[in-house]
Formats: sequence, C-alpha cells, structure tokens
Amino acid sequence: MNFFNKKIPEQVTRLSILLIILIVVFIFVRSKLVPPDFGEYGHYRTSAIDENISQEIKYAGQDICYDCHDDVVETKRLGYHKNVACEVCHGPAVIHTEDPEELILKAPRNRGYCPICHEYLPSRPTGFPQIVAASHNPMKPCISCHEPHDPKPPEAIKECKACHAEISRTKSLSHHVYVECTHCHTTPQEHKIQPRDYLPSKPSTREFCGSCHAEDSDASADIPRVDMFSHGERYTCWQCHYPHLPEVR
Ligand code: HEC
Ligand code: HEC
Ligand code: HEC
Ligand code: HEC
Ligand code: HEC
Ligand code: HEC
Ligand code: HEC
Ligand code: HEC
Repeated sequence: MNFFNKKIPEQVTRLSILLIILIVVFIFVRSKLVPPDFGEYGHYRTSAIDENISQEIKYAGQDICYDCHDDVVETKRLGYHKNVACEVCHGPAVIHTEDPEELILKAPRNRGYCPICHEYLPSRPTGFPQIVAASHNPMKPCISCHEPHDPKPPEAIKECKACHAEISRTKSLSHHVYVECTHCHTTPQEHKIQPRDYLPSKPSTREFCGSCHAEDSDASADIPRVDMFSHGERYTCWQCHYPHLPEVR
C-alpha cells in the first residue's frame, strides 16, 4: 500500500524529462517549422511548384539552333556526336538564342576539353572511343584533325587497338602475344566503321582452342598441348583461361 511513497528511480525521472522535451520539440516543429502548404498534395509542398516554374531557364535545347545554324545541326545530325547536345560543349544558350550579340557562346577549342569524355579510363564501356591524350598526336589541338561536329578520324582505323585498348594491352603481355586478334575473331570490315551493327565472331567451342592446343594438332611444336578429353572436362576453355591473358599459374 506504500506504492506512492516509493522513491521514483533517478533514471526514470531523466527519461521522462527527455520524453517531455521530445514531445515539446515535435509539437513546435509540426506547428511552426513545417510550411503551411505541406501535405495538400500528399507528401509535397504546394508552393514548390511555383518556385520551380519561376526559375530562370538556362538551356535552350537543340531544335532552336537550327533556325540560325542549320549547317552545323545538319553536319552533326549523322556524325558520331549526334547524341552529344550542343550545349554540352557550348554552355547554356537561352540568352544567346534570344539575342546572339548579348551572349556570344564560347567554343572549346583547346586540347584540354575533349579528353573529359575521351581520355582512356578502364571503367568506360568496351569500344567507347578513347585515347591517351599524352601520346595521341600531342601538341596539336584536337580540332585540327577532328571536326567537332562530325568527328570522323581523318583516316580509317586500321588496328583493333584503337578501340579495344585494354584488351590489346593485356594481350601484348600474354602468351598469346603473337596470336592475331583476327585469328580468333573473324571481323567484317564494317565493324571498324559501325562497330555495334557489325560484330565480329567469337570462338564458341573447345575444339577452336584445340586447333593449336590439342595433342594431335599440327600447330608449332612449342605450343603447350593438353588432352582434350580429360583436360577441363566439359567446360569451355575460357571458363578457366582468359583468352587474352591465358596464364596457367
Ligand atoms: C537567332 C539566331 C541564333 C540562334 C537561335 C542561335 N544562334 Fe548561335 N550565333 C548566332 C549569331 C548571329 C552568331 C555570331 C555572333 C558573333 O560572332 O557576333 C552566333 C554564334 C554562335 C557561336 C560562336 C561560335 C564562335 O565562332 O565562337 C556558337 C558556338 C553558337 N552560336 C552556338 C549556338 C547554339 C548551340 C545554339 C542553339 C542552342 C545557337 N547558337 C542558336 C545566331 C544564333
Ligand atoms: C563536342 C563538342 C561540340 C558539340 C556537341 C557542338 N559543338 Fe559547336 N563547336 C565546337 C568546337 C570545338 C568549335 C570550334 C571549331 C573551330 O574553331 O574549328 C565549335 C564551333 C561552332 C560554331 C562556330 C563555327 C562553325 O563551325 O560554324 C557554331 C555556330 C557551333 N559550333 C554551333 C553548334 C551547334 C548548333 C551545335 C549543336 C547542333 C554544336 N555546335 C555542337 C564543339 C562542339
Ligand atoms: C560529352 C562527351 C563528349 C565530349 C565532350 C566529346 N565527345 Fe567525342 N564522342 C562522344 C560520344 C558519345 C561519341 C560516340 C561514341 C560511339 O559511337 O560509341 C564520340 C565520338 C568521337 C569520335 C569518333 C571516334 C570513332 O569511333 O571513330 C571522335 C574522333 C571524337 N568523338 C572526338 C572528339 C573531339 C575532338 C572532341 C572535342 C571537340 C570530343 N570528341 C568531345 C562524346 C564526347
Ligand atoms: C594530328 C591529327 C590528330 C590530332 C591532333 C588528334 N587526333 Fe584523334 N585521331 C587521329 C587519327 C589519324 C585517328 C585514327 C587512327 C588512330 O587511332 O590513331 C584518331 C582517332 C581518334 C579517336 C578514335 C579512337 C577510337 O578508339 O575510336 C578519338 C576518340 C580521338 N582521335 C580523339 C582525339 C582527341 C580528344 C584529340 C585531342 C586531345 C585528338 N584526337 C587529336 C588524328 C588526330
Ligand atoms: C571503331 C572502333 C572499333 C574498332 C576499330 C574495332 N572494334 Fe571491336 N568493338 C567495338 C565496339 C563499339 C564494340 C561493341 C561493344 C559492346 O557492344 O559492348 C565492339 C565489339 C567487339 C567484339 C565483341 C563482340 C560481341 O559479340 O560481344 C569483338 C570480339 C571485337 N569487337 C573484336 C574486334 C577486333 C578483332 C577488331 C580489329 C580487327 C576490332 N574489334 C576493331 C569497336 C571497335
Ligand atoms: C586466342 C583467341 C583470342 C585472341 C587472340 C583474341 N581473342 Fe578476343 N575473345 C576470345 C574469346 C574466346 C572470347 C569470348 C570470351 C567469353 O565469351 O567470355 C573473346 C572475347 C572478346 C571480346 C568481348 C568482350 C570480352 O572481353 O569478353 C572482345 C571485345 C574481344 N575478344 C576483342 C579482342 C581483341 C581486340 C583482340 C586482339 C587484341 C582479341 N580479342 C584477341 C578469344 C580471343
Ligand atoms: C593460333 C594458335 C593458338 C590458338 C588458336 C590458341 N592458342 Fe593458346 N597458346 C598459343 C601459343 C603460341 C601459346 C604460347 C606458347 C609459349 O608461351 O611458348 C599459347 C599458350 C596458351 C596457354 C598457356 C599459358 C601459360 O601460362 O603457359 C593457355 C592456357 C592457352 N594458350 C589457352 C588457350 C585458349 C583457352 C585458347 C582458346 C580461346 C587458345 N589458347 C587458343 C597459341 C594458340
Ligand atoms: C576447369 C578449368 C580448366 C578448363 C575448362 C581448361 N583448363 Fe587448361 N588448365 C587449367 C589448369 C588449372 C592448368 C594448369 C595445371 C595443368 O597443367 O593441368 C591448365 C593448363 C593449360 C595449358 C598449359 C599446359 C602446359 O603444359 O603448360 C594449356 C595449353 C591449357 N590449359 C589449355 C586449355 C584448353 C585449350 C582448354 C579447352 C579445351 C582448357 N585449357 C580448359 C584449367 C582448365
């Protein structure tokens, strides 16, 4: 019966004070700090729509450039840069389209610019055209050889290396250094011009590797041989050996 006389433990007092503070803060935040139009459209602040609408528009889009620069738009339309918007390279252009004299756009003519997208990076997708700027025709501006609105290389690319830099660098350090890319990949000429539309072949069977590595192959005697029936059993060879760098250990 002396329940009420019992001393309340200290930690309960502290927790209760904390709880009361939290409740007060919560009520204050809900009533004073949340904007009044929050929640009218679900979890959204209604006046944000007007604020966004009232923001200044800076990018004009590509269609309007045609009015005054139809020649450039036509040049770019079918070139490699067809999917790179004008304003990526020339900067936001709304003011320029309204009054060309008020904002004269700049063209990135210096060599430092293009490597933003084209400098070699291993993480870029296979086949994305990449160069090592330090060794790719250094000292000259890129646009002295590549028209920026239709950047065809000035001469046809002869080597697979130009587009498959990483694979060819890997292979050049491997036991397959003297096996030509085209020995394993039959490559249509068009692949070097429209690479994604004309893909080379890829080896598909164990027997393909066996043409050099099977015990009964008539390839050079220095090439190591394996017993095609027992070696690696039913798996394709490149489940264990990366064909561009086949290391045994
Ligand atoms: C109303 C016509 C008009 C429109 C629309 C227009 N331009 Fe221009 N642009 C001009 C004129 C005129 C000049 C020449 C300005 C000068 O040099 O005095 C010019 C110059 C330029 C230059 C300068 C090139 C250099 O020599 O350095 C670039 C780049 C350019 N425009 C890009 C664009 C882009 C991109 C668009 C579309 C977003 C565009 N323009 C839309 C009229 C227009
Ligand atoms: C990859 C970057 C890039 C893109 C994308 C690009 N330009 Fe250019 N543009 C340049 C460079 C670099 C120059 C300077 C060329 C020179 O001096 O020879 C230039 C020059 C120009 C010029 C002035 C010289 C000329 O060739 O008439 C105009 C106008 C122009 N660009 C408009 C456009 C328009 C319009 C688009 C979109 C259809 C566009 N550019 C897309 C990089 C680009
Ligand atoms: C915003 C990124 C971007 C910038 C900046 C850019 N490019 Fe490109 N470039 C591309 C894309 C995307 C392609 C097309 C790739 C494809 O077809 O797979 C391309 C293709 C090319 C090609 C064609 C290579 C081939 O496959 O034969 C050349 C050459 C080239 N660009 C040169 C330039 C030059 C010179 C500049 C500077 C004026 C430049 N690029 C700036 C994105 C860019
Ligand atoms: C002296 C002329 C010259 C200059 C300057 C030059 N290039 Fe090239 N570029 C070429 C030639 C030729 C090829 C095709 C043969 C090859 O790959 O070397 C090429 C190919 C390319 C390719 C295609 C590679 C691929 O994988 O498809 C890109 C991208 C490229 N250049 C970008 C640039 C950039 C960016 C610059 C400036 C930093 C530049 N080039 C400067 C002549 C030039
Ligand atoms: C102009 C650039 C370019 C040149 C030159 C080039 N390739 Fe390609 N290659 C590509 C592109 C882009 C892809 C597609 C990558 C993708 O779709 O992921 C590709 C894909 C491939 C594939 C994969 C096919 C597949 O089904 O996955 C092989 C194999 C290949 N290339 C071999 C070669 C060989 C061998 C050479 C030289 C004889 C060569 N390539 C020259 C750009 C090029
Ligand atoms: C000894 C035969 C052989 C040689 C030589 C060879 N490849 Fe391959 N390559 C293959 C095989 C096998 C695959 C399929 C691998 C897979 O499916 O996992 C392949 C796959 C590829 C792919 C598809 C993407 C990838 O990495 O799997 C590309 C691109 C490619 N090779 C390019 C080249 C280029 C460029 C060269 C020359 C520098 C070359 N290959 C030399 C056997 C070879
Ligand atoms: C044109 C003949 C040829 C073809 C086809 C070929 N190779 Fe080779 N392979 C060689 C040569 C040459 C060597 C290197 C011998 C040496 O180092 O003396 C080699 C070495 C090897 C090695 C040994 C590497 C080491 O560390 O000793 C392996 C593993 C290998 N190849 C796997 C493959 C696979 C997997 C394929 C099929 C995708 C294949 N090879 C297709 C010629 C070929
Ligand atoms: C299950 C994984 C596996 C598969 C599949 C496989 N290998 Fe191997 N391979 C190895 C291992 C592990 C070694 C090193 C040990 C040894 O010599 O058995 C090797 C060694 C080799 C060697 C070097 C032999 C030597 O004497 O130096 C060659 C060549 C070779 N493999 C070619 C092939 C070819 C060709 C195929 C497809 C027909 C293939 N491998 C399939 C795992 C595999």
